Amino acid sequence: MQRIIVAPSILAADFSRLGDEIDRVEAAGADWIHCDIMDGHFVDNISFGPEIVGIVRGLTNLPLDVHLMIEHADHYVPRFVKAGANSITVHVEPEAKHDVAKTLQQIRDSGCRAGLTLNPETPFDLIEPFIHKLDILLIMTVHPGFGGQPFRADQMPKVTRARSLNRKIDIEVDGGINAETAGVSIKNGANVLVAGTSIFHAKDYAKAIRELRGE
Ligand code: DX5
Ligand code: ZN
Repeated sequence: MQRIIVAPSILAADFSRLGDEIDRVEAAGADWIHCDIMDGHFVDNISFGPEIVGIVRGLTNLPLDVHLMIEHADHYVPRFVKAGANSITVHVEPEAKHDVAKTLQQIRDSGCRAGLTLNPETPFDLIEPFIHKLDILLIMTVHPGFGGQPFRADQMPKVTRARSLNRKIDIEVDGGINAETAGVSIKNGANVLVAGTSIFHAKDYAKAIRELRGE
C-alpha cells in the first residue's frame, strides 16, 4: 500500500497572510504544496504566476506541485522551473495549445517531475499514449477554474483504468476532495490528494489532513 500524499492547494489560502498559511499546513502534515496557475484563457479565471511560486519557494522546503491550467505551457515552463517547481503538470486538451510530448520532455529535461492532466469532459484515450512516460497523472474531479466545486464521482473509472495500466505512477485527484471523496478516490487507486477548501477553510488543518488520509 502506497503512502497517501496530501497536497493543499493554496488557491483556497488567505493570500493576505500566505506565509502563515504555508507554515500552518506544513506543521499540519502537508506533503506537497499545490500551486494552481490559471491564465484566463484555458480556464475562465486568473490566479497567480511564477513570481508568487517563487515567493512560496522561499517559504517552505516542501515539494511545489505546479498545475498549469494555461495555454502554451511550453513557453512558461522555464519560468516555473526557475521559480522552484518540483513537479509541473500540463493539460492534454488541444485547447491548451502545445505539443504535449515535447512539453513533457522539456519538463523532465529541466529536472522536474512531469505530470499530465485531463478535464472531466476529456476522454481517457487522450492520456493512454503517455501513461508510461509520466511521473504524475492528475485526474480533474471538477471542471478547472474555481475552488469549492462538488466532486465528480463519474471520473473514478479514469483513476481505476490508470492504476491498472501503471502501478508506479502518482495518481492525483483534484477538485472537491474532502474526507469522504478522498476515501472514494483512494479506493479507486489514487495516492495523491489535492485539497483547497477542505483544508484552508477548516479550523484545524492537522485534523483536516488526517481525515483526508482516512486516519
Ligand atoms: C481547480 C483547481 C483545484 C482547486 C481545488 O481549478 O485545479 O486545485 O483549487 O479546490 P477545492 O479543493 O476547493 O475543490
Ligand atoms: Zn490543481
